[in-house]
Amino acid sequence: MNQESQQNSSKHSVNPEKLKSLKELSKEYYNIDSLAKYIDVYRISQTDPDDFWNTIADRNFVWKRKWDSVLKWSPEKAEVTWFEGAQLNITENAIDRHLKTRGNKTAIIWEPNNPDEEALYISYSELSERVNKMANVLKKNGVQKGDRVCIYLPMIPELAIATLACARIGAVHSVVFAGFSASALSSRINDSNCRMVITSDGSYRGSKSIDLKSIVDEALESTPSVDCVLVVKRIFSKVEMRKGRDVWLHEELKQVNDTCEAEVMNAEDTLFILYTSGSTGTPKGMVHTTAGYMVYTAFSFKNIFQYKEDDVYWCTADIGWITGHSYIVYGPLLNGATTLMFEGVPSYPDYGRFWNIVEKYNVNQFYTAPTAIRALAKQDIEFVNTYDLSSLKVLGSVGEPINEEAWNWYYENIGKRKCPIVDTWWQTETGGIMISPIPFVTPTKPTYATLPLPGIQPSLMDDSGNEIQGNSVSGKLCIKYPWPSMARTVYGNHQRYKDTYFSAFKDVYFTGDGALRDEVGYYRITGRVDDVIIVSGHNLGTAPIEDAINEHPAVAESAIIGFPHQVKGNALAGFVILKNEGESRNKENLSKEINQLIASKIGPIAKLDRIHFVSGLPKTRSGKIMRRIMRKISSGEGNQIGDVSTLLDPSIVEEIKEKVQPFL
Ligand code: WT7
Repeated sequence: MNQESQQNSSKHSVNPEKLKSLKELSKEYYNIDSLAKYIDVYRISQTDPDDFWNTIADRNFVWKRKWDSVLKWSPEKAEVTWFEGAQLNITENAIDRHLKTRGNKTAIIWEPNNPDEEALYISYSELSERVNKMANVLKKNGVQKGDRVCIYLPMIPELAIATLACARIGAVHSVVFAGFSASALSSRINDSNCRMVITSDGSYRGSKSIDLKSIVDEALESTPSVDCVLVVKRIFSKVEMRKGRDVWLHEELKQVNDTCEAEVMNAEDTLFILYTSGSTGTPKGMVHTTAGYMVYTAFSFKNIFQYKEDDVYWCTADIGWITGHSYIVYGPLLNGATTLMFEGVPSYPDYGRFWNIVEKYNVNQFYTAPTAIRALAKQDIEFVNTYDLSSLKVLGSVGEPINEEAWNWYYENIGKRKCPIVDTWWQTETGGIMISPIPFVTPTKPTYATLPLPGIQPSLMDDSGNEIQGNSVSGKLCIKYPWPSMARTVYGNHQRYKDTYFSAFKDVYFTGDGALRDEVGYYRITGRVDDVIIVSGHNLGTAPIEDAINEHPAVAESAIIGFPHQVKGNALAGFVILKNEGESRNKENLSKEINQLIASKIGPIAKLDRIHFVSGLPKTRSGKIMRRIMRKISSGEGNQIGDVSTLLDPSIVEEIKEKVQPFL
């Protein structure tokens, strides 16, 4: 080689170091900040999912050991593993790794029910100390790695801390929403044989206080697996402490030291169980595991809320639901964010409370449910206009389809037409947000959840089990490729998991929702296609409510349907057949008794707005209740029922038509 050509080659050949760094840069998938990048990253996630998730997991978390395989997937068995072979502790990712750079940064802002009570700012260092201490309290009281711990607490800091303390020592948390009744609580405790219950003396909800401890006492009359109840002092009420079983948290905390080494967990060890209602039978304990859940909730939080270092993020959900698990606790803390926890309700002391909180803390991302938006939109607009909402950058919606009117009200009055609304579609089972706009990236469209996150491959299926191709189509929403935060099983019942999610269509996950895909490929969720009804964003199965009603001595049989409701989205109507002895009873009293029964068996959220006493139900010859017919009549479409010849007793349709005034 002569000198000249040598010079030439060094001038024109690409410096391998530079090439490497360019390649590295192009693999920066974690934060998607432009539409071009979304399209690019989405394509990569589809063509090489293993490499995509490998890169995200590798670069954004701390691991004690890396994985041997990214994904293993057996659709026939409905068995999936992510990051098998890896070892980690999620709390080291959510807390410890931030201590050096964000030790003094506020991790959790806690706003109490009563605005006159002092708020709390818990820094990452303080959170670390409190989680470590609580973890030691759990250990001191016999909780070991793998044990299930039921957490039944109001929205106080101890709820987040207890959750993380379980994760710290490898205990499985099962958070039960503190609005559930004693019998709902005990059936959840028994289903997963929890060893301990963490609760409080009571809780505040607006102007009311609730005696949580006595609900727990009632529930524990039939829960042989529980040997310890850890009680947080919140309302300073007088409670009965059972000797040998109940201990006060504040007393236990005095007796432990403040460091607790994080347990080494395998990627697929269970992180938590969370119950969700199904269309039949008892609630399903959805099992979420460690590594995949961590990777996906962190990744989705970062993108869906475009969180920046000094932002204050607020999700109004309760940690008793998956939204709170993934997007109050884990997602935000994994990103070193400041996450706000609110103990109270939107109507106390008045309907301006949410907006008051936004102003007070300069909230930047605000995530709530359509039912709350509709309730607030009905109030005097002065409740909004009194407050300065200019800190807001992103608005979120979750839990049910958001209707256009609510979307517009939210966009105009809360976001002042400058904040994108992220309508986030997902489920307890999916662990994290699946379909949603990315703010400032995806152009929004009212009532549309828009596009899947990278790594998520939705499909629409027709009734004969074929995938519907192309745009401007609708069908049953499925996900055709595994994603890291998917639930792995139903606790103690893998068959039920398989039957519910992987049997309707071959090899794909069936969501239970219907959806349409518009001309540009945006998804709009049209609602459940099974017997689950979403009331005020709460997922309720018809079967457990019907079971509760049927326990009334005067009731022979019942069926529940949902009907459109201005605030709740859907409300419940019950069709009740009485036994002979019930016929002579006062129907108003009977209705009250039925609702009391539902409140005590399930919780007040499942109460019926309307009760119709009928002599029969529209059933097929094989005994399946045709809820569709009752829904049609109830929504004023009684003349569009179509063929009723498959019904055992078609005359019942006429009776229902006479008795039921359309709800609309
Ligand atoms: C069901 C899951 C995921 C957290 C809260 C509910 C409905 C949820 C949306 C949305 C339309 C939605 C679906 C889904 N849903 N988000 N943005 N648009 N529908 O969790 O209790 O497991 O309920 O909620 O029907 O299947 P969940």
